[in-house]
Formats: sequence, structure tokens, C-alpha cells
Amino acid sequence: MPSPAISPPDLPQAAFCFRCIGCVSITHSAGQDFRCSQCGNLLEITDPQWNSGALRASDLKSVWRERRGSNLALDLSGVWRFRELLPAPASERQVITLREGNTPLYELPQSSRRTGVSRLFAKHQGMNPTGSFKDAGMTVAATFARQAGYSWVACASTGNTSASMAAYAARGGLRSLVLVPDGKISWSKLSQALDYGALTCQLRTDFDGCLRLLQELVRRAPVYQLNSINPFRLEGQKTLALELLEQLDWQPPDHIIVPGGNLGNSSAIGKALLEMRDLGLIPHLPKLSVIQAEGANALVRTLREAGGQHLVSVEADTRATAIRIGNPASWQKAVNVIKATGGACEEVSELEIAQAKSEIGAEGIGCEPASAVTLAGLKKFLRQGFVKPEETVVLVLTGNLLKDPDFTMEFHRGDLFRGTIYESASGSLNPLRHPPIVLDPNLDVVIQALEQAEKSSPTNVNA
Ligand code: F0G
Repeated sequence: MPSPAISPPDLPQAAFCFRCIGCVSITHSAGQDFRCSQCGNLLEITDPQWNSGALRASDLKSVWRERRGSNLALDLSGVWRFRELLPAPASERQVITLREGNTPLYELPQSSRRTGVSRLFAKHQGMNPTGSFKDAGMTVAATFARQAGYSWVACASTGNTSASMAAYAARGGLRSLVLVPDGKISWSKLSQALDYGALTCQLRTDFDGCLRLLQELVRRAPVYQLNSINPFRLEGQKTLALELLEQLDWQPPDHIIVPGGNLGNSSAIGKALLEMRDLGLIPHLPKLSVIQAEGANALVRTLREAGGQHLVSVEADTRATAIRIGNPASWQKAVNVIKATGGACEEVSELEIAQAKSEIGAEGIGCEPASAVTLAGLKKFLRQGFVKPEETVVLVLTGNLLKDPDFTMEFHRGDLFRGTIYESASGSLNPLRHPPIVLDPNLDVVIQALEQAEKSSPTNVNA
């Protein structure tokens, strides 16, 4: 382990407890389902210190900044660098880290021009060690799994959680069990779980079926569940928002837009924003909005048809397989944070997702389909007047472009919507396609291709 370059001052450590999001009762331990034993609602983690005045905003900001120059393993993690706002493990040596977090905040000049939003940014969580935002939560939850003495961890997944869990388990000397819907996750994500050594079960059901089975499994077998029902995951995922605000010099954007699936990430970001406001780290709250695919729009319907009072489940279907979820576990937490921040929830079509994904690719960044719902959602919000062009907007890109190469290849080859109800309308996306061309190894032929491409310049094509 490298020796520290500097040793920043230590602030008081967190002494966390669990709080029920329904009846707000406090407990110091949680069962394997992470639900309140009194009312059955989900638990969240809290610490009396986070709103007791014990932590001064200016001290936190300077300690976190100083740690950026440190070589301590904990400080090199973009998650544990913010450890005053995380549950503290018994010892620092317990921490399982892959230097997660530290993700870039990019400008999106082409999308800015196209949408008219001049201050438009992408917080790219796909630049994490396993290529998705899951790593920020997994470092915390895997640490607490090992500390609790478990030798097996388990999750149901649409692919990214399983890749991340398998990596952190391998790193921490734990064994991992992955339950994924057979044929409905990308090979790229599945291959990660295999390489990291997980016991990988492809169940003949959907994500919701996998999660149901996992809930029963944890009652029968000594495995520790690492789905986002696990509140330690959400604590780690809070750091996305802390790092983002630090990158913006603690000036809150007007809007943060995030994809919604099982709704853990939106809940975590919202929790972080509220805690930051209470601690005086930010002067006011950004609006946090969630975008879903039309075919997996449980939260949209929950808010629209039930006023957020009860969950409206759906039979989920979308090519954005990461968010192909019909029965989101953290729906209530998400409803709470959307309402508390004045955000909104929208749905976007398969064509809008494909278009937005290719536009983010054209920025030289790229993302997986589920992440692209954010840009598609922004366009809808602009049309509705909920977002105004003069406002500052941050899109949270949750997964790396390389996570779903099948989608990308099918899009560029023109096969993505073949045989679907979107086939005829998808012709409008043709100018965005860049299919590979097979040529003879002949200089004149390649020069001809170059000249042809020059004639149909990308700026004209994308205008
Ligand atoms: N984006 C990506 C790339 C995801 O993998 C997920 C969820 C989401 C967005 C939605 O986040 O569930 O917190 O609302 N993937 C989970 C998985 C469900 O198993 O990998 P959420």
C-alpha cells in the first residue's frame, strides 16, 4: 500500500443507524430484507451527526479537497474520500475498493447547440472500474458484507449490478451468486460476472422474477443481498452527487436528470442532495428528475395514476435492458425525493432512446441505452417548458458505451428495429447511422469512400 503523501485532518466518524422511510422508527441493526420490523417499509441509513451541527460545511469541503492530493487507498477512492457522510466500517482495513468514483463531468457541446441549453453537462458514471455507477455503492455494501462475516454475496440484476458485485466480491475474497434473466441482459455484462468468478444463474424469468426469488433465498441461505434494497449501496451512490457538486464548485445546477429502473440511484442522489442542503454544503436544491423507457414506466404511472400513493407495476419491455424493470423496489424513496426537490418523472420512446444514444456517441463520450434516456427526457422537458434553455442541466450517464455492443451494432447496421412496430418510423434515424463498410484492400477504393463521406459531412447529417 502506498504511503500517504499528506495526512489530512480527520473529522468525527459516522455512527450510523437505520431509519424506516415509513414510520421513521430507528434501529441499530437490520434484517436481511432491510425492511422495518414494525411496518414493513424499506430502511435507510442515517447518522445523528449529519444534522447535529457537528460537521461544518467549510471543514468538510476543505478536507475533501485536500484528500485529492493524498495517496492513501481510502482517499484515492472517489467514494471513501467523502467518508464523513458514509457509514464507517469498524476499521479502514475492511474497505474493499477499486478506486471507484472520480468520474468526469463533461460538457456536451453538440447537444447544447441542438437543444439550446448552453450549460449542459454529463456526469459519466460509466467511467467507473466496472463501467457503471454501481461501483460507487458496491464498495460500501461489499465492505459491510465482509465485515458482517458473510462469505457469499448475491444479487438479482439486469447486468450491471452483477458485474460490479462480482468484481468487488472477487477483490474482497468473497464468493458471489448472480441471478439474471435468461436472454435479457447484454453479453458484455454477463461476461464480466463470469470473468470475476461469480456463480452465474440465468433464470427463465424477468428481472422482477429474479429479485422475488432472491428475497426468498436470503431467508433460507446464508447469503448477503447486494441489491439496492440494501441501504449501504445507496450510501455509496450518494457520492455521485457530492463529487458532482464539488466539480461545480458547490453551485447547484437547476436540474439533475437520471434514468430510473429499480430506483435506487435516484433515491441515493436525492438523499445526498437533501443532506447537503441540511449541512449547508449547498444553498438550495437542484430539481431531481427521473426518466424511464415507455415500456418500463412503473414510476411514471405510479405518479400519474396513483399520485405516488401506491406502486403501479408494469410488464416491462425495452431494448434499454438495464432498466427493463416493472416492479421497482425503491419506488417510494424515489417518489419522496422527486417531490422534495420539485423534480418530475417522464417516459421516452425506443426511437428517442436510440437517437439520444447516438447523439451522445457523436460527442465522443458514448453511453449505454439506459443512460441515453436522460438526453431524450431533457428534450421532452424543454418542449413542456419544465426545463428552460437558460438553466444549468446535468445528465447522469450511468453506463459505459461498451456495456451493450449489440444495441450499438444493430443500430448502425439498421437492424435495431427490424420486425418491430418501430420499423417504418425508424427510417428517420438513418442519417445518424455509421455502418461499417467492407471494401477491397485497394487505395483508390478507400479514397473513394473517403470522398463520399466528405460529401455527406457529419455536421450536415446531424443538423
Ligand atoms: N442505468 C443503468 C446502466 C443501469 O444498469 C441501471 C440499473 C439503471 C440505469 C437504473 O438504476 O435501478 O438505480 O434506478 N441496473 C440494475 C442492475 C437494476 O441490475 O444492473 P436504478
